[in-house]
Amino acid sequence: MGGLRRLEYRGYDSAGISVISQGQLATRKKAGKLENLVADIKAHPIADSRIGIGHTRWATHGAPTDQNAHPHLGGQSSKLALIHNGIIENFSELKQELLDAGTSFASETDSEVAAHLIAKEYEASKDLVSAFGKVVNRLHGAFTILVIHEDFPDLILAARKNAPLVIGIGEGENFLGSDVAAFVEHTKRAISVGQDEIVILRPSGVEIQGFDGHKVDSKEFTIDWDASQASKGGWPSFMAKEIADQPQAVADTLMGRINSEGMVTLPEIDGLDAKQLMAIDRIIVVACGTASYAGEIAKYAIEKWAKIPVSVELAHEFRYRDPILTPNTLIVAISQSGETMDTLMATRYAKEQGAKVMAICNTQGATLARESDAVVYTHAGPEVAVASTKALTAQMTAVYLLALFLATGRKSMSAPELSQLGKELLKLPAKVTEVLSSLEQVTDLAKKMSKAKTVLFLGRNVGFPVAMEGALKLKELAYIHAEGFAAGELKHGPIALIEQDQPVIVILPSPSDPLHPKVISNIQEIKARGATVIAIAEVGDKEASKYAENVWYVPATNWLMAPVLTVIPLQVFAMELANAKGLDVDQPRNLAKSVTVE
Ligand code: G6P
Repeated sequence: MGGLRRLEYRGYDSAGISVISQGQLATRKKAGKLENLVADIKAHPIADSRIGIGHTRWATHGAPTDQNAHPHLGGQSSKLALIHNGIIENFSELKQELLDAGTSFASETDSEVAAHLIAKEYEASKDLVSAFGKVVNRLHGAFTILVIHEDFPDLILAARKNAPLVIGIGEGENFLGSDVAAFVEHTKRAISVGQDEIVILRPSGVEIQGFDGHKVDSKEFTIDWDASQASKGGWPSFMAKEIADQPQAVADTLMGRINSEGMVTLPEIDGLDAKQLMAIDRIIVVACGTASYAGEIAKYAIEKWAKIPVSVELAHEFRYRDPILTPNTLIVAISQSGETMDTLMATRYAKEQGAKVMAICNTQGATLARESDAVVYTHAGPEVAVASTKALTAQMTAVYLLALFLATGRKSMSAPELSQLGKELLKLPAKVTEVLSSLEQVTDLAKKMSKAKTVLFLGRNVGFPVAMEGALKLKELAYIHAEGFAAGELKHGPIALIEQDQPVIVILPSPSDPLHPKVISNIQEIKARGATVIAIAEVGDKEASKYAENVWYVPATNWLMAPVLTVIPLQVFAMELANAKGLDVDQPRNLAKSVTVE
């Protein structure tokens, strides 16, 4: 149950467990959040057990009901229990085959098909491992499947195709999880399971084999997350805690990567040949959701500092439009989880086309990290709240490091310039702390605005992706319609939305930036049409307060680095507004943190 709680962010419309207790399979499953399952187990207790599987669901096939919750049982006397993450694409033909043979189904899921097939195969052959292997070879699509069977009270079988699976190695006990957060409180030793592999897990040991039966040698890694990072630690929500964790997340991402002269070193990208890296003539960033805004910031920073053309693409759009890639194209895939299927599919496609792939990823052992030519890890620690906060500021930090690393290698800036920027980066954690300590006004205003129907966000240059992120946060957490616009685009259409008292949040560039007066003009234009303006401005910006009803100040920094600071009031604004509406900020409706389906 502890493991499920740590993974609940992956899906939370139903949950269930099966254990083998006193020689018998016992299953409890319930629609709704994990708490419903906890209550059900309390009402119908299960005797102690030493083996079990558990699942939290984000529905694909079949509504989130008790029946459709996992585990699913298979076989004549329901001795087998199965959990599944992913989609079995050929389930309808397999289901028909089972229906023709007289099997009856208890759910509408694709997953139950696999449970019956394995049970049937086992009943015929009496060999569970080979029955399991046979069936997983028949399944198409994306799946991680785990199975236990009453006849084998010390065995869990797992198979992985296009969905995540990690093994935790303990002392006389072993674990499986969709990511390491599931078991990090029990062990720091982990193995990431490869594509098309089967795991035979017992308390005494682990064997891995390919779907074709060949033995697979595995490599252990050590998890550097601290188990306590995955608990709320006294905060009212994971999101509140993760917002507060940001100085640490940024500092840890910088750690060991900038030397005393302010120069960036990224030893971890030696998976990419240095010459090749310097020969790249184009970078395409692929990502989804919040991570894509870190990608937008990468575009500004890499183009400005390293002088390499960058485009940013939503991974799901990129994959299916035949993009033109060459061996000199570098794909930078940004993903907190490293398991977002859209991002994985985009990078696989890019690799097939001969491009190199670098990942910016927060989760060790994740599929994206395994499959990329090089990985720059963000060290934000486990992020549990569905809406991304500290992972984003850590991604931005990694993006600045990458931009400066490329600029150093390609000599696109002088050493003193590089050093000055490197040193500026090192000041960010303290500035993030400063922002976090002066957010009362943000909280007060958020509470007052809980009835708002729509909020607009404006930004320019790196302020634009921040505006987009501000709008996304408000949508996902507070279910309020919000849109982020490039401030310059306003007059080309969106200004028609402005009416009396329309709240507009504007991210102002530094007064030292040539864009500052232009954004001030944009503020005047919307004010003239009745808007109520809230500005995020640099400390000492005298113009801001002349035109905006409210100003939230952040410390001065290099303008390209400012998003790490300006995004924080927007995170807090969305969270507090959602809190004021009585919503669950950690688990907003309909969402899942790690979307492992396309
Ligand atoms: C989901 C989450 C978002 C997240 C996005 C990308 O949509 O709800 O918060 O930004 O996935 O996730 P990733 O793990 O790839 O960064």
